[in-house]
Amino acid sequence: MADVLRTRGRHVEYNTITVRPLTPAIGGEVSGIDLNGPLSDAEVDDLHRALDDRLVLFFRDQPIDHAAHVRFSEYFGGIHIAPSTKPWQAPGHPEVTIIHADKDSTFVAGEDWHSDMSCDPEPPLGSVLYLHTIPPVGGDTVFSSMYAAYDALSERMKAHLEGLTAMHDAAVGFGGITPEGMKLPRTSHPVIRTHPSTGRKALFVNKGFTTYIEGVPRAESDALLQYLFQHLQHPAFQCRFTWTPHAIAFWDNRCAQHSAIWDYFPQTRSGFRVQIRGDVPR
Ligand code: SIN
Repeated sequence: MADVLRTRGRHVEYNTITVRPLTPAIGGEVSGIDLNGPLSDAEVDDLHRALDDRLVLFFRDQPIDHAAHVRFSEYFGGIHIAPSTKPWQAPGHPEVTIIHADKDSTFVAGEDWHSDMSCDPEPPLGSVLYLHTIPPVGGDTVFSSMYAAYDALSERMKAHLEGLTAMHDAAVGFGGITPEGMKLPRTSHPVIRTHPSTGRKALFVNKGFTTYIEGVPRAESDALLQYLFQHLQHPAFQCRFTWTPHAIAFWDNRCAQHSAIWDYFPQTRSGFRVQIRGDVPR
């Protein structure tokens, strides 16, 4: 593990923002920018480079409305409207998903490790989550670098996984909570994907959606996935974000996974998420 960690720590220069790394592997808290108004080309360029370097960016004190939320997301691509999240669309804003839990909740979105909507043929490039209401304590989100998870595999395991594909099925995460009869997507993706912008390899299986590795006996697939799901949760690959009201987390869904911790029941945690259109994982 130490060898993998030593390979990180590149220095990236920014012209318009300050980025404070959270851990060597992942996470950067961005300051010096206002997401309520239009951004300059230089700011957008800095944010692209910061996202490539840090995988998830955090912004504090940014009270945004739906229009500002969507405008910010669109600097990074078109909007992804996931069919499986239709029941939680904000009224009049299908591009905005409500993320909310309170004393009446029986589940919360994203409680286990996952990459958003990896069941879709073109899973989102990233997600922009804005929370306006935060419980007095708890409700953190934990993020894990799938570059770090890949880099830390043995060369033999990397060679074994190369070229394998796995099935991702929305029924795992959404089966019990979407209206009966709703058609849920399932798609096959490579187990190892190459990030189109950084060229780095990332592990692309997750507990929230991946059901089996194709072309191998089911028992072998189960054992391999169990190992990989455990491996990708190593604390050395992670950062943990403690929310404050009107904070935003913007993560790269192609190389990071996340898990929302539901330790604050019966308190309220509430906000909105917009997802950015991605491409076919390769
Ligand atoms: C999600 O999985 O997109 C929600 C994450 C969170 O609520 O922290």
